[in-house]
Amino acid sequence: MIKQQATLSLELQAKMDFYQKQGYKVPTLDMIKTPEEIEKIKASGVINTAVLDHVEKHIKAGMTTQDIDDLVSSFTKEHQAICAPLNFEGYPKSVCTSVNHEVCHGIPSKLRKLKEGDIVNVDVSTIYNGYYSDASRMFIVGKTSKEREKLIEVTKECLALGLKQCKPYNFTGDIGHAIQSHAEKHGYSVVRELGGHGVGIEFHEDPFIYHFGKPKTGLLLVPGMVFTVEPMINAGGKDVVIDRYNGWTIYTKDGKDSAQVEHTVLITETGYEILTY
Ligand code: MF3
Ligand code: CO
Repeated sequence: MIKQQATLSLELQAKMDFYQKQGYKVPTLDMIKTPEEIEKIKASGVINTAVLDHVEKHIKAGMTTQDIDDLVSSFTKEHQAICAPLNFEGYPKSVCTSVNHEVCHGIPSKLRKLKEGDIVNVDVSTIYNGYYSDASRMFIVGKTSKEREKLIEVTKECLALGLKQCKPYNFTGDIGHAIQSHAEKHGYSVVRELGGHGVGIEFHEDPFIYHFGKPKTGLLLVPGMVFTVEPMINAGGKDVVIDRYNGWTIYTKDGKDSAQVEHTVLITETGYEILTY
């Protein structure tokens, strides 16, 4: 999809100039969506959410992660949409399924059976009418340990606190700082190597959204920006390793659990709107 050129109000232009003159980084025009683009990304988000609801309804012990891939792929097709991960930079499946100490980009497999107590991140990304949306949820298979429940709870809180910082004239560093402070307060750590991203016209656009950082640093947020916030929170240390065979799956280095939740959000005039609810 070719990006339309956003027309900025005089007020927005003046504010961006004001911040830029003070040495702050401000978004470029390609990071600001037009109202028409936003409507189309919203429509994509509606389907993306329906896919996750569909997974939520069916996920259970004994299923394989390939079964989740099948659910996502068939449901998405039935809704005239496309699974964004499939063939993205050579990714071989339609969804990412990351279990326990897998941080992200777990590749569905018919050899990977879900068992009681597993915690699974299902990361769904949809192309509809040419526009992208991206969100992920954590699922608990049956009942799990108190420790795993708490990791998931705190990860959801991290996302909520990060989103709370999503408003005009805050900075990307405010989002990262809110997430990092909350995770570390609970003795957890934040994965550094991966982050949120602009989304909508392409799968991964600028800006990169760090899930750690300092207030009033990074890039200025302005109305019309659409990006994901998707903190990866580790029960143990922050370090991760990549699967040397498939080149995709990220694991915690210490083998401890990791959790992630993700939404696509729009910066509005007054705050944010989640496009993947
Ligand atoms: N959905 C992931 C994200 O949140 C991207 C996965 S890339 C894929 O950015 F190729 F693995 F799908
Ligand atoms: Co994403």
